[in-house]
Amino acid sequence: MSLPRPRVHLAPARNWMNDPNGLVHIHGRWHAFFQYNPEGNDWGNMSWGHASSSDLLHWEEHPVALPHRPGEQIFSGSVVAGPGSTLTAFYTSAYAHGIQAQSRATSVDGGLTWTPDAANPVLDRGSADFRDPKVIALPDGGWLMLAVEAVERRVVFYASDDLDTWRETGAYGPLGPEDVVWECPDLVRLEIEGTDATAWVLLLSTNPVGDDADPSGSAMHYVVGDLVDGVFRAEENALVPVDHGRDLYAGVTFHGAPGGTAVMLAWMSNWRYAHAVPTAPWRGAMSLPRTLGLRRIAGVLRLVQHPVLPVDLDDVPSPAAGVTPHAVIEVHPDPAATGILRLRLEGATDAAVEIVHDPATRTLAVSRSGEVARTLHPDFAGTRTAPLLETGAGAFTIVLDGPLLEVFADRGATVLSHLVTLGGGPVTVHATAEGSEAPAVRIVALADDAQEGLAAPAAA
Ligand code: FRU
Repeated sequence: MSLPRPRVHLAPARNWMNDPNGLVHIHGRWHAFFQYNPEGNDWGNMSWGHASSSDLLHWEEHPVALPHRPGEQIFSGSVVAGPGSTLTAFYTSAYAHGIQAQSRATSVDGGLTWTPDAANPVLDRGSADFRDPKVIALPDGGWLMLAVEAVERRVVFYASDDLDTWRETGAYGPLGPEDVVWECPDLVRLEIEGTDATAWVLLLSTNPVGDDADPSGSAMHYVVGDLVDGVFRAEENALVPVDHGRDLYAGVTFHGAPGGTAVMLAWMSNWRYAHAVPTAPWRGAMSLPRTLGLRRIAGVLRLVQHPVLPVDLDDVPSPAAGVTPHAVIEVHPDPAATGILRLRLEGATDAAVEIVHDPATRTLAVSRSGEVARTLHPDFAGTRTAPLLETGAGAFTIVLDGPLLEVFADRGATVLSHLVTLGGGPVTVHATAEGSEAPAVRIVALADDAQEGLAAPAAA
């Protein structure tokens, strides 16, 4: 069984994709580069693929931007606009001799073609695990680069006035679980809802390693704090999950988004079983883009995520009935009934996804079951339960786009993102509520126009 392509999520026409790289908004267009294998749908020959979009939902794929070369793979990194009308990319050169160091490339044609710097690598610590440079523009001018010493579980910081000379300003970490590597850091300044205040938020991805690696696999976290003298300082040293699902990793934000909004894209997979996801000739997709914010809930600053949705739900006159594997499902639990609400999505095979909303325990759970889920990987099937932070009775939104399922609850404060194996055939939605007749469920089908005009990427 091969899972269907998503309609409103970025996925390559063919071949393997992982992390988003070099997300940048220029000349009214969103550009996404990404970890890409131009030669197959397994991880390898890492290069930067490229796609662009005017609305973040319909993507046009472009030729490979930065191809791997003999002895050098192009790992994750970022793009900034500058100097002048040039675009500058920073990426990790993963050399066959084992060193990982940061390199630079520039583009003068809006990101289509790139020229690596003759002086590469431009930042080399002689480390085998120094990677994923994310360059951000500082509010008062100048640039800051974050990268990881992955095995040491440290984010290292460098400052520059000209994107040319870099000065190390400090490091953050280690903390949290020990048997993981730290990857793909980002630093965003977010507004606190209902106030004029802002706080800095460190985004970080961790991947379990070693013989006894945690079977739950890779995951994204955040830490709220401040930026002091070019180094992140946590308010409280703890890694908080960005997403309670199994499949959200390596998320980073766009440079240059209008109004300075933090818009994040993340890879919707898990290193634990990414290689086994049954799709062809492509493998790997991005999450829906999400704007990020902060909300104080019970005294704690929480990350909130609002998806860029393909439909304005308020504009849909009547519920589009029916069964489709590409739909937005809005659920309004009846606050008077306050019972357990079960939403069961069933595919044509025995595959099912169950979403259980329990206002009494204030939890939202998502389970994956069925033969395809069980055979995909021993650690794939099962249940994830997220604590609800607000009243426990609010509405939630489910976006199902082929193999991708994203659930947004608590007005964006609780999110679960999962790969699902419902397949490309009809999906039926059964809603049952313990305490009332039937919960209000609105289903809006996603149009089939999404990947139209997708250009086949040229071979490297
Ligand atoms: C994260 C990661 C990065 C690395 C890239 C290689 O998923 O492991 O640390 O740069 O993928 O593809």
